[in-house]
Amino acid sequence: MKLLLDHKNMFWNGKVVWITGASSGIGEALVQELKETGVKLVLSARRKTELERVKSQSGLSDENCLILPLDLEKYTTLVEFPELILQKFGSIDVLINNGGISQRSLAHETSLSTYQSLMNINFFGNISLSLALLPYFRKQNKGHIVSIASIAGKFGVPYRTGYSSSKFALTGFYEALRAENTNHNIKITLVYPGFIKTNISENAYSGDGSKHGKVDPGIQEGIDSRVCAKQIISAIESGRLEVVIARPKEKFAIFLHKYFPRLFAKLIPRVKVV
Ligand SMILES: NC(=O)c1ccc[n+]([C@@H]2O[C@H](COP(=O)([O-])OP(=O)(O)OC[C@H]3O[C@@H](n4cnc5c(N)ncnc54)[C@H](OP(=O)(O)O)[C@@H]3O)[C@@H](O)[C@H]2O)c1
Repeated sequence: MKLLLDHKNMFWNGKVVWITGASSGIGEALVQELKETGVKLVLSARRKTELERVKSQSGLSDENCLILPLDLEKYTTLVEFPELILQKFGSIDVLINNGGISQRSLAHETSLSTYQSLMNINFFGNISLSLALLPYFRKQNKGHIVSIASIAGKFGVPYRTGYSSSKFALTGFYEALRAENTNHNIKITLVYPGFIKTNISENAYSGDGSKHGKVDPGIQEGIDSRVCAKQIISAIESGRLEVVIARPKEKFAIFLHKYFPRLFAKLIPRVKVV
């Protein structure tokens, strides 16, 4: 056990890690899991007060933590952010693109502006940070980008047409980006969580873009966010291309979708997903 902890600390010690969506759920759990490894953390999300709470509850100080509030939906404004981190810490090693929002609405009840907002936050907001960092990573010939997708990015899930689209799009972008940048030693890890116990369904958009405000049974019974964070960290340490963090029945759904698509198409409408 001690050996494992030493290995973890050796990997992270002194690294600068930028986590978006750090004010809640999986992002907050990542902070909790990394706080004692000697890492320097940059915490981003919209709510500054929640980021301050996470920082103080994790016992982080101004020396090893930078709060950088940002709105992923305003993705054209994010290009300057890496420079602020470089001014403070002098380097950036890992970007964990975790901030995002889900959806709970049938397609025919969902406005186009809600679709646009989902794509802006989950896709354009996500990739804009990676694009802003890319010149720096290419110049230093190393870097690691982690993108938190979803198993809804492995197969289309009802009530999540826009959310699934945004998460599928991440796979296309990051697989291509990986291929373009292997010679620059830039690692890409795609993470596909299943149901994880966080505020995701309460914060999800309804069709008109208002807050869904309810907890799904699946989320309530989901994997603990700290367990999820541990698996993400271990995937980064071992340079995994992708990792699925889900319960066996969700992993089985990925298998069915891939190898028995007709059966999958018959079954998925019957699965309770809200
Ligand atoms: N929980 C699950 O079952 C599950 C499953 C698969 C994938 N995921 C993915 O995991 C990631 C984290 O979600 P979570 O489960 O931890 O949900 P969560 O508790 O609702 O956290 C979402 C985080 O994203 C931030 N965020 C939302 N909109 C933002 C915006 N416009 N700009 C900047 N930050 C924004 C939120 O912070 P602010 O509100 O302060 O901005 C919050 O920190 C998401 O990408 C989600 O799609 C979750």
